Amino acid sequence: MSTEIRFDDGAAYAQYMGAWSQIIGGQFLHWLNLPTQLDWLDVGCGNGAFTEQIHAQMQPRQLAGIDPAPAQLDYARSRPALARAILLEGDAMALPFADDSFDVAVMPLVIFFVPEPARGVAEMVRVVRQGGLVCAYAWDMYGGGFPYTLLAEALREVGQPAPAPPSVSASRPEVLHALWQTAGLTDIALRRFDARRSFASFDDWWHIATLRSSTRERLARLDAATRRTLQARMRERLVEFTDAHGQLHLPAHAHAIRGRVALS
Ligand SMILES: C[S@@+](CC[C@H](N)C(=O)[O-])C[C@H]1O[C@@H](n2cnc3c(N)ncnc32)[C@H](O)[C@@H]1O
Repeated sequence: MSTEIRFDDGAAYAQYMGAWSQIIGGQFLHWLNLPTQLDWLDVGCGNGAFTEQIHAQMQPRQLAGIDPAPAQLDYARSRPALARAILLEGDAMALPFADDSFDVAVMPLVIFFVPEPARGVAEMVRVVRQGGLVCAYAWDMYGGGFPYTLLAEALREVGQPAPAPPSVSASRPEVLHALWQTAGLTDIALRRFDARRSFASFDDWWHIATLRSSTRERLARLDAATRRTLQARMRERLVEFTDAHGQLHLPAHAHAIRGRVALS
């Protein structure tokens, strides 16, 4: 069975990652400090977690999203808030839109999945009007910002490493900056955003953290004793984030970037 990174269950995604994305997403939209009624494109919109925030916080005139994963799009299309959004199957490296179609294009937690990030950024520049914004945010994969870093480490220790996203180096702030600069964007700004998410108990966290199908497949390959060892190790490692009531409060952080399409 394949263990590549797959996005094959939009409802599971909502729990294990969408909720995390939204904690960053709200702060990120605030940071952009844009007026309402703009035309927005969400590249790699996934199950619509962040797209819904654009709808709620920015009251866009036009809202579009693309993603290559049908299961994610199905979930996004089921969100009442996105009933009027244009949600298409597509790839960041070949956006299905005409030049100068949007005021803002954003890649939330996506750039490290795009095989050629520079092509993805160039495509956002192409579809955004002069003076508009091209932006992204990405977990700090090398600096412990990914919400499931500790679980990934524990799985690696028991011989079940997760594959890295194809362009994981694009999560480095200096690589993001170089990508934006090479694409000719101006007024480039970078910012770190911190997230903190609470879970009712270790069991609640474990349930959510192992919802992803590829994680479940890795766990299923372990014998029962190794699975118990892994769980015990995770319990130990999460003690420092556990309060007196047994609730977990876990940190994550992402780097965000924004740049302006130059006026000619
Ligand atoms: C971590 S999810 C982020 C989803 C959503 N933006 C969010 O913030 O919750 C990454 C998404 O990138 C999508 N993706 C993977 N490769 C892509 C590509 N080449 N172009 C556009 N999206 C891609 C996946 O299908 C997945 O939905």
